[in-house]
Amino acid sequence: MGDSEGSGSNSAFLQSFIQGEKGYGAVGAIFLGLLIPVLLSMAFLGKKKIKQRGVQVEVGGEPGFAMRNRRSSELMEVPWEGATTMAALFEQSCKKHAHERFLGSRKFISKEVTTAKDGRKFEKLHFGEYEWKTYGEAFVCASNFASGLVKLGHSAGTPAAIFSESRSEWFLAFQGCFRQNITVVTIYASLGEDALIHSLNETQVSTLICDSKQLKKIAAISSSLESIKHIVYFEDEGITIDSDVSSAMSNWTLSSFAEVEKLGKESPAHPKLPSKSDVSVIMYTSGSTGFPKGVMITHGNIVATAAAVTTLIPKIGRNDAYLAYLPLAHVFELAAEVTMMISGVSIGYGSALTLTDSSNKIKKGTLGDASALKPTLMAAVPAILDRVRDGVLKKVDENGGLAKKLFSVGYKRRMAAIEGSWFGAWGLEKLLWDAIVFKQVRSILGGRIRIILCGGAPLSSDTQRFTNICMGAAVGQGYGLTETFAGAAFSEMDDLSVGRVGPPVPCSYIKLISWDEGGYLITDKPMPRGEVLIGGFSVTLGYFKNEEKTNEVYKVDEKGMRWFYTGDIGQFHPDGCLEIIDRKKDIVKLQHGEYISLGKVEAALLSCNYVESVMVHADPFHSYCVALIVPSRQALENWAQGAGIEYSDFPDLCQKKETVTEVQQSLSKTAKASRLDKFEVPAKIKLLPDPWTPESGLVTAALKLKREQLKAKFKEDLLKLYG
Ligand SMILES: *[C@@H]1O[C@H](CO)[C@@H](O)[C@H](O)[C@H]1NC(C)=O
Ligand SMILES: *[C@@H]1O[C@H](CO)[C@@H](O)[C@H](O)[C@H]1NC(C)=O
Ligand SMILES: *[C@@H]1O[C@H](CO)[C@@H](O)[C@H](O)[C@H]1NC(C)=O
Repeated sequence: MGDSEGSGSNSAFLQSFIQGEKGYGAVGAIFLGLLIPVLLSMAFLGKKKIKQRGVQVEVGGEPGFAMRNRRSSELMEVPWEGATTMAALFEQSCKKHAHERFLGSRKFISKEVTTAKDGRKFEKLHFGEYEWKTYGEAFVCASNFASGLVKLGHSAGTPAAIFSESRSEWFLAFQGCFRQNITVVTIYASLGEDALIHSLNETQVSTLICDSKQLKKIAAISSSLESIKHIVYFEDEGITIDSDVSSAMSNWTLSSFAEVEKLGKESPAHPKLPSKSDVSVIMYTSGSTGFPKGVMITHGNIVATAAAVTTLIPKIGRNDAYLAYLPLAHVFELAAEVTMMISGVSIGYGSALTLTDSSNKIKKGTLGDASALKPTLMAAVPAILDRVRDGVLKKVDENGGLAKKLFSVGYKRRMAAIEGSWFGAWGLEKLLWDAIVFKQVRSILGGRIRIILCGGAPLSSDTQRFTNICMGAAVGQGYGLTETFAGAAFSEMDDLSVGRVGPPVPCSYIKLISWDEGGYLITDKPMPRGEVLIGGFSVTLGYFKNEEKTNEVYKVDEKGMRWFYTGDIGQFHPDGCLEIIDRKKDIVKLQHGEYISLGKVEAALLSCNYVESVMVHADPFHSYCVALIVPSRQALENWAQGAGIEYSDFPDLCQKKETVTEVQQSLSKTAKASRLDKFEVPAKIKLLPDPWTPESGLVTAALKLKREQLKAKFKEDLLKLYG
């Protein structure tokens, strides 16, 4: 997920908002009069009652404070009896929902390339309606693909890798592999060459499955891919394989997905099904240091998480449509899609660049993925929701006038209702505000979204509320890591509180253990605090060919339960919900002994208008911290215009003394408002004009900072800041 994609969905939202804005302005005026009496009568009726969501539990291993989900005293392992592996789950789910829609892709109609004034080229795509495979058809397709792999000569016992953006063939190939007990290695499509070579070689992958866009990249490094024997590619309209590519791959077989499927149809192979303790996926995660690590995920891990999460999404079922556009090589998306699969939901594939009618890559006047699918469920990472929010709010601000007033009154009223009373939260007043103000915002995502699953990083409370109010969607915040196949904690949809990640999922326990050095203790008042440990069926086997690292962070207790040490610091609220408050390795002791939490300070500084991205740096040799900041171009240019600052281009503006002073003053104000301590306010800052994107390797696909890479890249700048 690139930065461009983010701004893509951003501008998309803006556009749609402009189009919708006029309509509600007029209607709003009429309704406002009617509303006031309703507002008065509805305010603050009833009182929120605390609902117990987690229950304290006795567990083995290191002493700590442990919690389980209230729903089940025994940990959940399977969604239903007999479904102990992905292969069994897929087969049974496909039988159960045989005639329902399952996997949808949009029909490609045309592509245009336009050239902007500055010579940059833009691709504009026109897609048609979704075309669907039913569950029954998907099963036949995956089974044929599995047989085709055997016929192709894939050697039993070696893994296959999938290196592609999310699409229906990804999921089919994935399921196909399990029908022959083939382990699947997943790699981010945005990963660099070195990391790709490393992961394919480390796992000795013999069959590489990819989209046709990746073939060039693979051909270029073919001499380093010693274990590969077969390439299977997903066909793309308008992409042909040139002779350079096929000659670089002349030592391998090169077949399309459709060819392999056909091969298998003609010579069916007996399925060779895995057992629950077999490794289903080796998932390479973009580690924040060095080479990516491969996490070994068993069939049992996936099944357990999916079984647990599906019980937490109210009324999930065949009437739901899920919009899939995040990378499947990320555990969060994979877990979500498997969860959809076991519930008979239809999954429509899209991409972040084509999400809405005015997304970057969508041809003007044609439908984006959300308008075409009208999804009821989708997943998002916080960074995407943040951008949506900023975009909509900015647009409202620019338009001004009555529309802005209405929006602001509506927003405040809804906020008060959500935070005050249950009745107000869902009553008549809500319907009115939705009709007048928020319907237009919602139509951007198709108008039917009821739940947004959010994970990958903490979601700010502002954005969570924005999503509740403007998108009309409940937010299910998940907390989990690749090492726990995403399954750890998940907030319940009727929990309208902010900043928490919910109770443990029903397949896992969560335990806090004291971290004396950092000052987080399970005896802390008012809430127990400590390092977060996750135990149970979703805890994976460890890192591939890295026993040392595995033994460092995975431990088995005397009862045989596996625990993963997350390195995150959390606290348990009285209702059993977890809140992540810090990260062990992001806490640095300064020269005079104060501890500074980099993540906390960054989160606070991000609310400053001028800040797009920020990394705070601290070390034990100084008594203060410094910060690298990617400023918001728009905010800075607006200021420069107002202040009459002359500059040649944006990099020039960033290095001006006046600019640095302005941003620094604004940061100080923000820090004060967030009640940061003096030593937590960066003493010096450097403004960097270029955004940090996953492609640049400076942030992860979920847009989390990669501190080591950032430190290495901006070493000189950091040195100067301390100089
Ligand atoms: C599946 O494959 C793995 C590794 O290739 C092997 O160890 C395991 O025994 C196989 N499982 C079954 C049920 O045959
Ligand atoms: C692949 O891995 C082997 C060891 O398993 C190593 O000797 C070799 O140098 C690696 N090749 C590349 C291209 O990384
Ligand atoms: C194919 O394999 C042969 C023998 O191992 C090697 O000499 C040749 O360079 C390979 N060709 C390509 C295109 O990699």
